[in-house]
This record gives sequence, C-alpha cells and structure tokens, in this order.
Amino acid sequence: APQWLIVPAAGRGTRMRAACPKQYLLLDEAAVLACTLARLNEAFPEATLLLCLDSEDQWFHESMVPFAHWHRLNGGNERVDSVRAGIDWLTDRAHVDDWVLVHDVARPCVTVADLHHLMDTIRHDPVGGLLAAPVTDTLKRQDADQRVDETVPRQGLWRALTPQGFRYGVLQEAFRTAREANFLMTDEASGVERLGHAPRLVTGRSDNLKITHPEDLALAAQILSAQRA
Ligand code: C5P
Repeated sequence: APQWLIVPAAGRGTRMRAACPKQYLLLDEAAVLACTLARLNEAFPEATLLLCLDSEDQWFHESMVPFAHWHRLNGGNERVDSVRAGIDWLTDRAHVDDWVLVHDVARPCVTVADLHHLMDTIRHDPVGGLLAAPVTDTLKRQDADQRVDETVPRQGLWRALTPQGFRYGVLQEAFRTAREANFLMTDEASGVERLGHAPRLVTGRSDNLKITHPEDLALAAQILSAQRA
C-alpha cells in the first residue's frame, strides 16, 4: 500500500458553472470530495492523506475526511501547484522509496479494485505508473478552419487517468526539474517522462471519469450506482 496520498482539490471548477466548486456538489447526498476520499480510504486506510485545498475554501468540513492520518495544505493556481504543495510538504518526511499516489478529487468513480490493481502492478517497480484506458474513439486532428486535417491512428494511445503512483524520490526530482525548465506538468507522469523514465500504463476502468462539465455529475451518480449493483 502507498504511504502517502496527495489529493489536489483546489480547483475552482469554472467549467461546471455551479455555485460552488465541483468537488462540493452533491453526489448520492455526499459531496464529490467525500465520495472520492471514501474510495481511497476503503482501499488504503493506513495511508496519510495530504489534501490540497484552496486557501479561501468555504465549503470544506473535516467530517468529509475518513482518514486517521491527514493534513490540510494550501493548493495553488494550477493543478500542478496544488500537487507541488504535497510534494514540498513531504520534504524530510518521506523516504525516497516511499510510494506517493496522486488522485484527482474530481474522480470519485475510481474503484477499490483498480486502486489495488495499480499498487499490485507497480509495487516492485523502481519508478511507478498510472491508471490508463485505451482510446476507443477515432481521433481527428483539425486544420485551421476546424475541418478534419487527418485521422490519427489510435493504436497504442491511452487516456491518462488517476491515481498516478510514483516513488517519492522520482516525483521530487520530476517536480524540481519541471520548475527549473518551466515545464507545465498536466499530470505527474509527464514530469517523470521528462526525466527519461517510462511509467507503466496500468489498465484501469474506462468509467473512472473526471467530473468536468455539468452533465458529468449525473453520469457519475449512475456509474456509482451501477458499480454497487
Ligand atoms: O480542472 P481539472 O478538472 O482538470 O482538475 C483536476 C484536479 O486538479 C481536480 O481534482 C482539481 O480540484 C485539481 N486542481 C487543483 N488546483 C487547481 C486546479 C485544479 O487542485 N488550481
């Protein structure tokens, strides 16, 4: 099991056009954030959670956190800044070989089985890996007029999901290098790749969706109820 879980939850969710950030919208009568943390806790109850929230967050309540060991940190302007708050906090606290799992708060449908499958797959790896799903749609590249320029072969292409799990030493180096190079990491793996490592792609469920648009909330509710059935 991972020693550390970092959950970036400082997004303002402007694409949701909602009255509160998307992590506080209700999913099955609980906030999205509470649903996501419940899944993580079910899989890894012994881990220490680093929850990265907006410093002006008015919706968070401690009752949403099921973990025995956890810390609230201040997130930043971008997802990468929020994760970095967690990485920085681990300085002198984590061992280089410790496992750090980073999971988007906006992905409440991750299953306990996938969480365990990820850890079981990477546990002997020196670097780490991520849950991912093969691309199933046909992909088009656009031209300047938003017409099809070409069809991109989808063979070998994956959608990067979370969690992404890496050794602490590897992640620390990835964040240090990305800052120096002014490289915007959109996920942890992209930073690790820049170090020359090849993170493992661990096949995860395609219903591990990231709540992004208003219609995603109802879809997430259906996915959760179907998973329980
Ligand atoms: O915006 P998006 O849906 O891609 O966000 C992915 C994850 O990053 C969410 O869990 C969101 O709360 C988090 N995030 C963050 N800090 C930001 C922006 C996003 O923690 N400044």
